[in-house]
Amino acid sequence: MATETGSRVEAALDAVLRRAETQPSPPTLAAAMRHAVFPGGGRVRPRLLLAVAGACGDPRPALSDAAAAAIELLHCASLVHDDMPCFDDAATRRGRPSVHAAFGAPLALLTGDALIVAAFETLARAAPADPQTAAALSLIVARAVGAPGGIVAGQAWESEPQIDVAAYHRAKTGALFVAASTGGAVAAGRDPGPWRVIGEKLGEAYQVADDLADALGCEADLGKPAGQDAAHARPNAVRSLGVGGAVARLEGLVREAVASIPPCPGAGALADLVMLQARRLAPKDLVRSVA
Ligand code: IPE
Ligand code: IPE
Ligand code: MG
Ligand code: MG
Repeated sequence: MATETGSRVEAALDAVLRRAETQPSPPTLAAAMRHAVFPGGGRVRPRLLLAVAGACGDPRPALSDAAAAAIELLHCASLVHDDMPCFDDAATRRGRPSVHAAFGAPLALLTGDALIVAAFETLARAAPADPQTAAALSLIVARAVGAPGGIVAGQAWESEPQIDVAAYHRAKTGALFVAASTGGAVAAGRDPGPWRVIGEKLGEAYQVADDLADALGCEADLGKPAGQDAAHARPNAVRSLGVGGAVARLEGLVREAVASIPPCPGAGALADLVMLQARRLAPKDLVRSVA
C-alpha cells in the first residue's frame, strides 16, 4: 500500500508540474517550480491523506489524488518561502540548494506563489467528479494554510514579540496534518470529524521529531541546516523536555494517534502504516548517540 500511494502522489504532482511547464511559461520559473517539488522529501502529508482515504474505501481516487497533490504543493510552497532570506535564510533543502539559492529571491517568491495557486487549481480541476466534495476539500486545505490558524498564521507568530507556542505549532505544522487526515476522509465521502485527532496527534509528533532532528542532527543527514531553533531563539521540544522527554513525548503522541483511528474497513492497515512511518521519525542512532 505504501509504495502504491507513493507512486500515486508522484504521478499527481508530475501532472501538475507538466501543466505549469507548457507554453507560455517562462522556462526558469518552470524549472524553479520543479526544483521545489522534485525530488520530494518524505511526502508525509499526501501519504497520510491517501492512507486515510484508502482506509475509508477511497471510492473517488481522482478526488483523493487531487487533494493529496494540493496538500504537498502547499507544503512545498511553504518550504520555498520559509527558506528565503526574509524568513530562515536557509541555503539548503532536501540536500540541494534551496530555491532562492539556486534561482534568486524574486523567482523563489514567485515559485511559492505559483505552487499555492496550482494547489487550488488542482482541486478546481477535480471538481467535475463531485463539485460538493471538491468545494469541501478546498475549504479544508485553505483553512490549513491561511489565517487565522494555518501556515501563514503559524509563520506570522515568529513576528510577534511573544510566541504562543501551542498556537504556533498547531498552525505551522499541525494544521496541514489535520487537513491531510480530514481531507482523506472527505475525499472518500466520510464525516471528517472523527479523523481530526489522528491529524492533530501526528502533526504534533512530527513537530517534536523535527525539533529532535534540529537539535541533534547535522546538515549532511538532514539535507537542511541544523540548529536553526537555537540560532533563531525559537521554541524546541529538546530544550523544554530534554532528549529523553522529547522521545517519550513523540512515542506517546504516536500511540495516541493510532488509538484514535475510527472504526473503518482499513483501520488495521492504517495503524500498521503509522507505526512504520513513526519508526523513521526518531532515528534511534541519533537519539542514542546523544542520550
Ligand atoms: C519540514 O517538513 C517542515 C516542517 C513543518 C517540520 P518535512 O520534514 O515534511 O519536509 P520534507 O517534505 O520531507 O522535505
Ligand atoms: C518550516 O518550518 C515549515 C513551514 C510550515 C513553513 P521550519 O522552519 O521550522 O522547518 P525547517 O526546519 O525549515 O524544515
Ligand atoms: Mg521557519
Ligand atoms: Mg526553516
